[in-house]
Amino acid sequence: MSNSNKILITGGAGFIGSHVVRRFVTTYPDYQVFNLDALTYAGNLENLSDLEAFPNYTFVKGDITDSGFVEDLFIEHDFKGVIHLAAESHVDRSISDPMAFVMTNVVGTVNLLNAARRAWRNDIDKHLFYHISTDEVYGELHNPEELFLETTKYDPRSPYSASKASSDHFVRAYHNTYGMPVVISNCSNNYGPNHFPEKLIPLMIHNVLNDKPLPVYGKGENIRDWLFVEDHARAIDVIFHKGKNGETYNIGGHNEWKNIDLVKLLCKIMDEKLGREENTSEGLIQYVTDRAGHDLRYAIDATKLKKELGWVPSLQFSEGLTKTVEWYLSNTEWLNNVTSGAYKHYYEEMYDRR
Ligand code: NAD
Ligand code: DAU
Repeated sequence: MSNSNKILITGGAGFIGSHVVRRFVTTYPDYQVFNLDALTYAGNLENLSDLEAFPNYTFVKGDITDSGFVEDLFIEHDFKGVIHLAAESHVDRSISDPMAFVMTNVVGTVNLLNAARRAWRNDIDKHLFYHISTDEVYGELHNPEELFLETTKYDPRSPYSASKASSDHFVRAYHNTYGMPVVISNCSNNYGPNHFPEKLIPLMIHNVLNDKPLPVYGKGENIRDWLFVEDHARAIDVIFHKGKNGETYNIGGHNEWKNIDLVKLLCKIMDEKLGREENTSEGLIQYVTDRAGHDLRYAIDATKLKKELGWVPSLQFSEGLTKTVEWYLSNTEWLNNVTSGAYKHYYEEMYDRR
């Protein structure tokens, strides 16, 4: 690896990125961690307020779709490695505005690859481009026994997953064509603190707290495989340091839940925590029009990551979900800030899309 101690993390003000930035800044005081983020509606510096005083942390506001800016940043700093998380990440938004996903997820990723290639041209093999991707690139599963493997054929079915699949292809193409050292990981659904309340779990928590309806798409029978966000950040740490050049690693929790069962469990935990009578929150559930092209089931086989790099998830779901609910209950100001004021528009816009 290059002698530089500078690491670039993109999208570090978002949900997963903020946990990755915190892990790297606090675990590796010898690294200089740069967080590049455009602060879109999903980026929030409040997620990282505890890191402001750390001398090895630097925030850079910038847009990865701006090629000139990205190239200058790579020339100015000899980044040893990049961990690329910046993305448009919400499937529902990709259905109403696919181009935003093409711009950030595809064009933005190619801009980063070009800048890295240019800045690293004399010693490219001493660097690493780590691309964070999703299990959604593999499409949906119907056979209950089947799991996504690293070798599963790509079959993206939403504009979001198509844009992520495209970015994965570009990363592999730069490895094959230009010798760019890369690793890719494809992870299942994350949950935990700082999750923007447009996604299922934090949306339900927010709505229970505000006595609003809990919108369950279709019959609530779609299945997702949930992983606590800090376990994902730990997997990213392991893969960044020990992953093999050119390899792909699946990350998942072996923790499949039908949406409706998950929402009911969450309601139960919320009722207990809020001291409400049993089944109070469940009464807020409303079945609403299904998401267009709604993928039925995702489930990850993370055996390769376990066998080759020794990573396993650490938290049971009930424990992780309780921790998550407790975080939202003690951070109502965070939740209010991202659903009111300047954010209100984004939050309400989401409801208008349905
Ligand atoms: P998020 O939406 O919470 O955060 C995305 C971050 O990227 C935000 O801080 C935003 O400001 C920033 N960003 C967006 N466009 C940008 C641009 N043009 N330039 C610079 N910064 C920009 O997303 P997340 O849920 O934390 O997901 C992070 C990554 O992990 C994404 O690549 C996503 O595809 C992937 N992923 C997410 C999950 C999940 O369950 N959330 C699971 C697997 C993989
Ligand atoms: O699988 C990994 C992916 O997980 C990530 O790549 C995405 O960035 C992330 O957003 C997530 O995508 P999903 O579409 O699975 O997550 P979401 O929280 O939007 O929805 C989870 C499930 O809940 C899905 O089946 C749709 C359903 N749902 C969602 C919302 C927001 C509802 O029933 N009601 C809702 O209001």
